[in-house]
Amino acid sequence: MSSIHRTNQSLPSSADSAACKHVVAASAAAPVPAAATPAATSVPVAVPTPEPDEAAFRERLARHHDELRWLYMELYDNGDMFAELEQQMHRFYNERSASLKALDARREAQGAWYRDQDMLGMQMYIDNFAGTIKGVEEKLPYLERCNVNYIHLMPFLDTPADKSRSDGGYAVKDFRRVRPDLGTMDDLAHLAETCHQHGISLCMDFVMNHTSEDHEWARRARAGEGEYMSRYFFESNQAVIDQYTRDVPQVFPTTAPGHWTYLPERGQCVMTQFYPYQWDLNYRNPRVFNEMMYNFLYLANQGMDIIRIDAVPYIWKQLGTNCRNLPQVHTIVRMMRMIGEIVCPGIVLLGEVVMAPVEVVPYFGTVEKPECHMLYNVTTMATTWHTVATSDTRLLRQQLDAVCSLPRAYTFLNYLRCHDDIGWGLDYPALKQWGQEEVPHKKYLNDYFQGFVPGSTSRGELYNADPVTGDARFCATTASMCGIEAAGFEGDQQAMGVAVRKDLMLHAYMFSQSGLPIIYSGDEVGQVNDYSYKEDPEKAADSRYLHRGAFPWELVENIEHKGTVQNRIFNGLEELERIRRTDPVFSAEATVYPKDYSDVAILWIVRTYEGRTLHAVFNFSDAPKTVWMPERAVYTDLLTGEKAELATFALLPWDFAWYEC
Ligand code: GLC
Repeated sequence: MSSIHRTNQSLPSSADSAACKHVVAASAAAPVPAAATPAATSVPVAVPTPEPDEAAFRERLARHHDELRWLYMELYDNGDMFAELEQQMHRFYNERSASLKALDARREAQGAWYRDQDMLGMQMYIDNFAGTIKGVEEKLPYLERCNVNYIHLMPFLDTPADKSRSDGGYAVKDFRRVRPDLGTMDDLAHLAETCHQHGISLCMDFVMNHTSEDHEWARRARAGEGEYMSRYFFESNQAVIDQYTRDVPQVFPTTAPGHWTYLPERGQCVMTQFYPYQWDLNYRNPRVFNEMMYNFLYLANQGMDIIRIDAVPYIWKQLGTNCRNLPQVHTIVRMMRMIGEIVCPGIVLLGEVVMAPVEVVPYFGTVEKPECHMLYNVTTMATTWHTVATSDTRLLRQQLDAVCSLPRAYTFLNYLRCHDDIGWGLDYPALKQWGQEEVPHKKYLNDYFQGFVPGSTSRGELYNADPVTGDARFCATTASMCGIEAAGFEGDQQAMGVAVRKDLMLHAYMFSQSGLPIIYSGDEVGQVNDYSYKEDPEKAADSRYLHRGAFPWELVENIEHKGTVQNRIFNGLEELERIRRTDPVFSAEATVYPKDYSDVAILWIVRTYEGRTLHAVFNFSDAPKTVWMPERAVYTDLLTGEKAELATFALLPWDFAWYEC
């Protein structure tokens, strides 16, 4: 950390940017470490030709310098801090390994490498999957067998050991240290290197909205050091607190209501939009922005390929607004994109924007001024499960239509389940036209997926059920939502057949979309809900642990045993992955769109590429269907390889077809 001008002077509300700037300006005047001195400040007698490495840095800096400086000054108006940022960027560039620089160069030359047709991701908790980082490295052969070449390691940076204060690792105590029980930063860098040798990329979370209350900055702020207090939001004016409470939606209305946490030792509140132990960082303070960018570059230099910027819409707060997606957030993401492109251009920014589509898309920026490389296709995910519960694909067709009409360069990350709950963020105005109102519909979805609705085979639990609004989100694994848990429990082989088919159909649908598909670890073997979290007092209050169970290695052996659930799902996925990887119609450059069809239970996705057309047709219902092709022609069934002239074809309940012509 750079030297800090300490002061005991207590600051007024840190929402007062002038006050922050005052403190920070003093720290920015501190001498810059020698290693950080940029070549541009030395005064050579004869200008030497820069080394190729240095020339690459200068060229990238020159490309972005003016815009970066302009945005920085617009936000912070602090030239000293900008100079420090530039010096540190240079330092991190110099510290970047030769092999990572070579990878950067290859990726720069290739363009959007993360859009390759064969990209397939998997998201996992290190401890659940393999105990430690070294354990993950030992399990790489299994991941290669899953055809995975992108691994999202869930938060692994140091966090309070007490799980009730770690939010599954999203309360970071130290951005430069790995949680000791998982390993070390060296283990991580080693894993990254090995992964790169195998053509695998690593994704990690960069939790930039907040730190743990145990982070050094928070501890010093709690002790009253003004410099550190200015990195968070301290408030004692009840009127301000009340206004935030009124204007800003609650993130965890039941498990962590409110936006402020009272600190008796300070006689003040600190802003905590998520859990009380996650203190919101104050990005009005350029020291916070700079230091967080240094953390980002440090982690990129450990060999991380994809940086998932966690909860990014929340990072800028403004009294009188809802504190979400403010223009300054976009300025910061744009600056981050440029900083990455200057220092480590091979890396990808993945924005976690769990918002309505109109808020999500702006995080791509524009084609000339891009922000995130990739964003979660969150509304599509929620709409998919709505479709499962209603057997009505109309909303999903509209949603896919909206996504497909965006510029092709906008890459979405597609998923069925992740570590979080499913929030029912659907297009309610559209649903209203079809007679479905938001509150009763959410209740229906939650009832359906808990298995309370006749005909539902899903199992799972509510999350953050809000008694005031009646709102609730939902937790469960893909397999449990598809009926595998219920069928297994009841020993019902026929129901199991339908459940496995539904599970594979949903994966095939995910693979048919445009974008990068991510499998949630365990889904490849049909892992069901894990209710044991209820026995752990540190986890019991958070039902998201229902779908964060330990990976069932004992079931992996079943992959070899014909007829088992694991055998059917794993091999079924394997086949789909092979087709997606090799058939040109799955190219990232294909044109993709949903096609209308008279039966609302049928979802039809068309992919066209270089004269080939794929008809991907999905039956979202309990009834068998006869489907009419647009024209009688010879089609190839991609699953069997058989060619046949078809006018119609049959689909079992929850089945799908991939026909190409
Ligand atoms: C993101 C994470 C979630 C976490 C939150 C706070 O939304 O996905 O798990 O609770 O950020 O960091």
